[in-house]
Amino acid sequence: MSDPLSPRAIRLQSELRNASPQGFADRLIEFMQEKGGSCYDEAVTQLEHGLQAAWMARQAGASASLVVAGLLHDLGHLLLDEFEGATDFLSNDLLHERIAASFLDAYMPQEALDAIRLHVPAKRYLCSVDPSYLEHLSPASRRSFALQGGVMSECERQRMETEPFLDSALQLRRWDDLAKVAGKPVPALQAYHADLMKVRLLA
Ligand SMILES: [Fe+2]
Repeated sequence: MSDPLSPRAIRLQSELRNASPQGFADRLIEFMQEKGGSCYDEAVTQLEHGLQAAWMARQAGASASLVVAGLLHDLGHLLLDEFEGATDFLSNDLLHERIAASFLDAYMPQEALDAIRLHVPAKRYLCSVDPSYLEHLSPASRRSFALQGGVMSECERQRMETEPFLDSALQLRRWDDLAKVAGKPVPALQAYHADLMKVRLLA
């Protein structure tokens, strides 16, 4: 099977391998800057979406791990170049949450990795325990919800509740669902350089 990562993502992978914490932060910021200009949904770009989620985490006083998870939770879409040539890139589920968590596995603490890996199941979980949650999702998120498996079964819910960082994943998901405001002014990528270095050192 061919590598699902784009050629640019494979280059990033090799750049990160021997990078210092400073280099790690620099390379990820470069990548986000370069690839984040594509549409995330009807209202914001991929980069705007990540910056809004990270800013909500920062304003809530979240840990560096959770702030960085906010910034990078959809990195998988960019690593896969899912949006390339498609305006409806969410119409296939390529498991971007697992792609990103596995890509970052050696470089971040478990809280950040789990929050990223679980941000899609977290939507399914929240809609299962609170049916009104679905009504507040954006049209794109409602479309992908069905594709991602819809409401969780009792068994899936119980398994989710054994996750040690469940609360972090649910919190990230709530920010994710709010991080879709057209034109919202938020700090730029460089504002997260220190947090990226910090999580790299905590890995
Ligand atoms: Fe997202």
